[in-house]
Amino acid sequence: MEEVTYQGLSFEPYIRREEIAKQVHRLAEEINRDYANEKPLFLCVLNGSFIFAADLFRACNLHDAEITFIRFKSYEGMSSTGEVREIMGLSEGIEGRDVLIVEDIIDSGVTAAQLRKELAKHNPKSVKMVSLLFKPEALSVGKAPEYVGFEIPNKFILGYGLDLDGLARNLADIYVLKEVKG
Ligand code: IMP
Ligand code: MG
Repeated sequence: MEEVTYQGLSFEPYIRREEIAKQVHRLAEEINRDYANEKPLFLCVLNGSFIFAADLFRACNLHDAEITFIRFKSYEGMSSTGEVREIMGLSEGIEGRDVLIVEDIIDSGVTAAQLRKELAKHNPKSVKMVSLLFKPEALSVGKAPEYVGFEIPNKFILGYGLDLDGLARNLADIYVLKEVKG
């Protein structure tokens, strides 16, 4: 696999598609087991998690599982703005439901904390979160997701749904920003 360049920055291969698929299936097994007798509502947080959510949802073989979508935005370029904007809200009733939030990555935790707070207002039966990636060193609010695919250091990554200002979501592998050696 080759390096890729976006906005004049170089990114190198970091997590290959085979490794991603392996973790997606491991997470699906845990979710299948934990929700075996439930009717979970997967809540995909757009835009970043749409590819992960599609793969995870297909890998879960829960007969009564449903999926819906919400849109939040907190990142500009390569850093969190610290402020989360809800762009597209909940269309499904979640009262009494077992909600499983599907996130691409937990960085500062601001988006996740705000979302959990919003959801709690609607009296769900339970709320848990699955995130493909988690940067524990960057977490400043809230708690770790209940299900994590990969714990990674505090570096900027892209691909597999994750973007740099809208670009690179279509890469099948995950890439990391190359350190500039000087
Ligand atoms: P948080 O609110 O700081 O936890 O940020 C969460 C959102 O920021 C994620 O859902 C991503 O959309 C975006 N994000 C955080 N880290 C990265 C990264 O390394 N690459 C691309 N997007 C990121
Ligand atoms: Mg996101």
